[in-house]
Amino acid sequence: MKLSVLPRVKLANLPTPLQELPNLTKALGGPRVFVKRDDMTGLAFGGNKTRKLEYLMADALRQGADYIVTGAGFHSNWCTQATAAARRLGMGAVLIKSGPEDGYDPEDYDGNHLLHFLMGAEIKVVRPENFQRVTEETMEELEAAGHRPYLLTAAGSTPLGVAGYMNAMLELASQAVELGIDIDYLVHATGSGGTQAGLVIGAKAFSTGIKVIGATTGGRPREEQIENVSKLIDESLKFFELDLEIDEDDVIVYDQYAGGGYGFITEGKAEAVKLAAETEGLFLDPVYTGTSMACLIGLCREGFFKPDDVVVFLHTGGPAALFPYKGPLKAYALGEAPPWIIPPWSPSAE
Ligand SMILES: Cc1ncc(COP(=O)(O)O)c(C=O)c1O
Repeated sequence: MKLSVLPRVKLANLPTPLQELPNLTKALGGPRVFVKRDDMTGLAFGGNKTRKLEYLMADALRQGADYIVTGAGFHSNWCTQATAAARRLGMGAVLIKSGPEDGYDPEDYDGNHLLHFLMGAEIKVVRPENFQRVTEETMEELEAAGHRPYLLTAAGSTPLGVAGYMNAMLELASQAVELGIDIDYLVHATGSGGTQAGLVIGAKAFSTGIKVIGATTGGRPREEQIENVSKLIDESLKFFELDLEIDEDDVIVYDQYAGGGYGFITEGKAEAVKLAAETEGLFLDPVYTGTSMACLIGLCREGFFKPDDVVVFLHTGGPAALFPYKGPLKAYALGEAPPWIIPPWSPSAE
């Protein structure tokens, strides 16, 4: 299947802006840092999943779906974006979310959980070990009730989702030409891996020379993530019948900025969120973009980049996830000990 003829439904306002961050550059002492604002895709509060969903929802529509079924973490940005896309296209949504216990339902609705609730998604919170079973049961129940549910797996990290970031790389390369810059690196948060797979394929396919750095967010250790992204790259190359030489060295991953687990707060993430906010009025979150910014800061401090390198920070969205972290962020800003490290909504919480 050729990318140019792949069915696509318009959900994103593209191109997203590419902006220079002079104050952050100064604070870090170089390299020259730009931000690619994929938090401004315009679906819900924006984010990287919009680009994936343009292809995935086109497939759902083609199959006559009237419901989407998907799942991820309790405060998942993916669930927000997928539900918003479903609502915009007139579909229902069932979300299976992992939490500390089956049926977890906190008093205080906040962040993405509040958005899921406001969009009228049917929400099922389960322990991770029950995730697969509940997903299968949900699909069966909807089918038995006469619906046509579409299962969105792996946070959209399938070849269809990967297509969104192959395009994004082309978009970025053309913006670089307009701005007269030669981009050396792109730094972003890598999770299910579709964003990185698409960017790496795009960088090769369009000969941009951009090296794509992924910062893991606590899900997988480095080696495992390289394997995961590489596998997705191979599947996508086959799907799009692309003959490109891509090997594991093209998949650059750092895992030391994630902390002890997915969504755990660290000083590095809190510092990154605060620094972007106070130097550029740019809002990140402590799960994804706070981790990738902590990575960018860490690499600057260890002298990884040359002073005249041009580095693009891909803002993958997720600002709603900022608010559930208000306690630890306030404590960080005041120089106090955080009230918690492991979020109360995490399956790892006591
Ligand atoms: C804000 C944000 N950034 C980055 C990612 C990681 O993207 P991917 O799952 O394609 O690796 C996610 C995934 O949920 C996300 O929500």
